[in-house]
Amino acid sequence: MLNDAAVVILAAGQGTRMKSRMAKVLHRAGGKPLVRHAIDAALKIAPPERVFVVVGYQAAEVRAEVEAAGVQAIHQSEQLGTGHAVMCGEEKLGKLGGRLIVFVGDCPLIQPATLERLAETQKESGATAAVITTEVDDPTGYGRIIRGDNNDVLGIVEHKAATPEQLAIREINSGILCFDADSLWRHIHELQPDNPAGEYYLTDMVAILIRAGLWVTALKIPDSNELLGINNRLELAEADRILRARKIRRLMLDGVTIEKPETVTIDADVRIGIDTVIGPFAQITGETTIGENCRIGACSIIHGSLLGDGVEVFPFSMVSDSKLDAQSHAGPFARLRMDAHLSERAHVGNFVELKKTEMGAGSKSMHLAYLGDSMIGEKVNIGAGTITCNYDGEKKHATVIGGGAFVGSNSTLIAPVEIGEGAYVAAGSVINQQVPPKALAVGRSRQVNKEGWKRRTTGG
Ligand code: UD1
Ligand code: CA
Repeated sequence: MLNDAAVVILAAGQGTRMKSRMAKVLHRAGGKPLVRHAIDAALKIAPPERVFVVVGYQAAEVRAEVEAAGVQAIHQSEQLGTGHAVMCGEEKLGKLGGRLIVFVGDCPLIQPATLERLAETQKESGATAAVITTEVDDPTGYGRIIRGDNNDVLGIVEHKAATPEQLAIREINSGILCFDADSLWRHIHELQPDNPAGEYYLTDMVAILIRAGLWVTALKIPDSNELLGINNRLELAEADRILRARKIRRLMLDGVTIEKPETVTIDADVRIGIDTVIGPFAQITGETTIGENCRIGACSIIHGSLLGDGVEVFPFSMVSDSKLDAQSHAGPFARLRMDAHLSERAHVGNFVELKKTEMGAGSKSMHLAYLGDSMIGEKVNIGAGTITCNYDGEKKHATVIGGGAFVGSNSTLIAPVEIGEGAYVAAGSVINQQVPPKALAVGRSRQVNKEGWKRRTTGG
């Protein structure tokens, strides 16, 4: 954490090179919108009240993302360039003093430690501003760092405004700069839109400060990946690949086994305990937390869910927005959704779907069932083919099954309905009335055997 710094993230642009109807910073990499990556990095170095995001294009949508992260938005009504975006923050940021770290919102790979090093470099060197740079093989599109004979930074030239000689420079501007705030505000109005794009370029501040007799330095970092700016969908896919590889590496170093890691997708905010084994092609997304010693089978998808210790999800299962308590099992081919909840040691097997349903401790539904809007007690056995008819075409209704009940195979439970504790439902029943505790309910027509029927009809 830096104690004298504020951060402003520039996220007002449309991102025309994405060829999208959605603002660029809302596109996702590593499971999070680009702007969220920038905010999360900023929050590692500054408290939320000193993190600001400039919004403009699709302001309402971007603002929602910004506010959900607990930081403030600044509005840029016309996108006149990165320098103009910073100017829009003058009212809120102008009086803060200290240092202002400005960064582009489309740079999701930046690491907080690098931001801290930037701030240190600026402070220790005594420079008015410092910029993070790196060398890349293909600098197309980036601003180029212009250095003098003694290697001092003299300015940044945007790709569109660069001479052929300057285009050959491979040291690029990351778009991440740390300024002495008072000096920035004193000189920012000297920016002019005198370039082919007619924009106020923040990068021109470097030359402006130097002209005013001040000094600008650079923090040149070796890992150019960290500075990848996302302008099109190829770069988006590349950032996604790097973020996911980073996440998987982190998890493995922290004690999670990941089989065929190159096939596995895990979002940035997922947490997984030690000794859990993740099978090939699994996808674990959203805000998911998985305990220790779990097994997530091949090709399973787990989204926004909470799994306790020792949970097993067998292959090809899909679990979303659900909770699986310790030692519970699901799958193969299970689907749990919308607040499904498996209590400890509950098991659901193949082709079982649970929606908004609670399975009590030790309860089982091992094959082919749909259990919706149900409260199922402890140690209940649900036979194969059981269906809760929870929807009457207009409304959803609840099914309640008491602890220790046994529901025979192929039962149809027409909700609202209640099956008492320890009750027994005969296989093939249609149940539309309450079953008292410990009772046997038989809701099917009686079998009739017609002796000699074949001989009479066929003469055989
Ligand atoms: C910018 C830098 C370039 C640097 C590159 C690094 C400038 C002028 N250029 O170029 O030197 O190498 O980033 O990735 O700063 N934005 C606004 N308001 C605007 C314009 C842009 O908020 O009026 C935001 C965008 O939403 C985006 C960020 O600023 O998140 C950068 O804009 P972009 O158009 O991507 O700049 P680049 O051309 O990539
Ligand atoms: Ca960019």
